[in-house]
Amino acid sequence: MYEIKFFCTPITQKVTLLDNQIVKPEILMQRIALILLAILLVVVLSVFAVRMFKTSDPYVKTVLSMTGDPVQGNAIFQINCAGCHGWQADGRVGPSLQGISKRKSPYGLIHQVISGETPPMPKFQPSAEEMADLLSYLETL
Ligand code: HEC
Repeated sequence: MYEIKFFCTPITQKVTLLDNQIVKPEILMQRIALILLAILLVVVLSVFAVRMFKTSDPYVKTVLSMTGDPVQGNAIFQINCAGCHGWQADGRVGPSLQGISKRKSPYGLIHQVISGETPPMPKFQPSAEEMADLLSYLETL
């Protein structure tokens, strides 16, 4: 009996304290800040999750683990891409690819080549090694 009393008193005191705090505007601001922080955290975490999900694709993973040869990549580019993007990748039917690696992530570049999502650019199916070479060439632009 004595023990129950001992534990109960501080709890009731805390409850009344909380009740008082709810009314205070600065506490409300703190709560809003906390909620915003939580939302920010969720956004950051989901960006990471999406990135991890994308790079967990086995083909992308293999390509990204390889060191491509830009000279070989240039040759692949001349055969498959230069018709549209120009032999110096400065644009014809397709847009100029100068500085493309600043605008697109390695994943974005791989996706652009293999997805066929933006016609008239066709969907390519290079081997992982060819893709790694091509990627290393695109990164020199
Ligand atoms: C039939 C013509 C054609 C061929 C062949 C072609 N492309 Fe494209 N490419 C395009 C067009 C058109 C776009 C613009 C698509 C859009 O965003 O609407 C494009 C867009 C791109 C982009 C994105 C540019 C940007 O600014 O976002 C990249 C990167 C690219 N191509 C790389 C390649 C590579 C690498 C090859 C060879 C494997 C290739 N393309 C072959 C026509 C082509």
